[in-house]
Amino acid sequence: MAKEIKTIGVLTSGGDAPGMNAAIRAVVRKALANGVKVKGIKKGYQGLLNEEIVDMEKRDVSDIIQRGGTILGTARCSEFRTEEGQQKGADICRKHGIDGIVVIGGDGSYRGAQALSKHGINTIGLPGTIDLDISCTDYTIGFDTAINTAMDAIDRVRDTSSSHERCSIIEVMGRNAGYIALWCGVANGAEDILLPEKYDYNEQEIINNIINNRKRGKKHHIIINAEGIGHSTSMARRIEAATGVETRATILGYMQRGGNPTCKDRFYASIMGAYAADILCEGKTNRVVAYHGGEFVDFDIDEALAMEKQIPEYQYAVSRALSL
Ligand code: ADP
Ligand code: F6P
Repeated sequence: MAKEIKTIGVLTSGGDAPGMNAAIRAVVRKALANGVKVKGIKKGYQGLLNEEIVDMEKRDVSDIIQRGGTILGTARCSEFRTEEGQQKGADICRKHGIDGIVVIGGDGSYRGAQALSKHGINTIGLPGTIDLDISCTDYTIGFDTAINTAMDAIDRVRDTSSSHERCSIIEVMGRNAGYIALWCGVANGAEDILLPEKYDYNEQEIINNIINNRKRGKKHHIIINAEGIGHSTSMARRIEAATGVETRATILGYMQRGGNPTCKDRFYASIMGAYAADILCEGKTNRVVAYHGGEFVDFDIDEALAMEKQIPEYQYAVSRALSL
């Protein structure tokens, strides 16, 4: 029989993402509405090991739904990757009367949640990452805000690129995943898109594209380069030397991780946060909440982590076809 849940914890872990605050708010308020107490754990697993744990009431999450970042803070914690660290984390939960935890983060954070669950603390994961790189879910909290921030910035770079008839390489986030680059590539009408999943990009082909586009009268040439490929500045130098077209690199960086979440991020974070609180209060453990096939669902963490996700080939092919 599922153990009775009296108190739950909530933490954010790994890279922050806009919408995490909306998720925290939803977890806190839904759990309280279910008659369960809530504790906020600061700075991810590091804060758990340091016992940075505070009681959370309804008013503690007032006025945060619209804010980027995470009011709980986040961190990366190498100690939690060890068996000793995980055992210590579970013991600290028991000491503070925490029966279960909602972990908001990416798939690394899910592995921490999986470990805590094996040590007897109920856990539910929520997909919080701007990268959209969690296999079991079609949506991750923060992606929508990040792509809109990047899209807006790329539009601005495009204006000045056209005025100066330059080529622009714009580097977007995504160390291991090219979804931000793919979406912005399509939405910004980029001439070339470089994704970590397709590392075999051909620089000579890009150079030929630039030269051919110039002949066709295109005034700019936008290359969206994912962080995982990187090296935008040296790439710009090589391209300029080979084409004779002035080429500039712009690295968007951490601006993509901040800012007020979009309506979509607030909505999904709110529904997913409430869903996580509900299933945790029901006594479920080792689950992750996902948006899959048009519905909010939950999966076993072990199964979720074993799933694979690829860049959709058709979407990539369309991005190429429309950039003519
Ligand atoms: P994300 O959750 O965004 O993927 P990370 O991969 O950096 O970010 O993971 C966040 C944190 O989750 C790590 O700093 C670590 O504390 C914990 N974590 C990651 N992988 C594991 C693992 N295999 N076992 C236990 N904890 C892990
Ligand atoms: O949040 C996702 C992400 O932006 C990845 O694309 C990138 O690999 C990582 O975070 C970098 O984060 P940090 O510099 O904080 O380690």
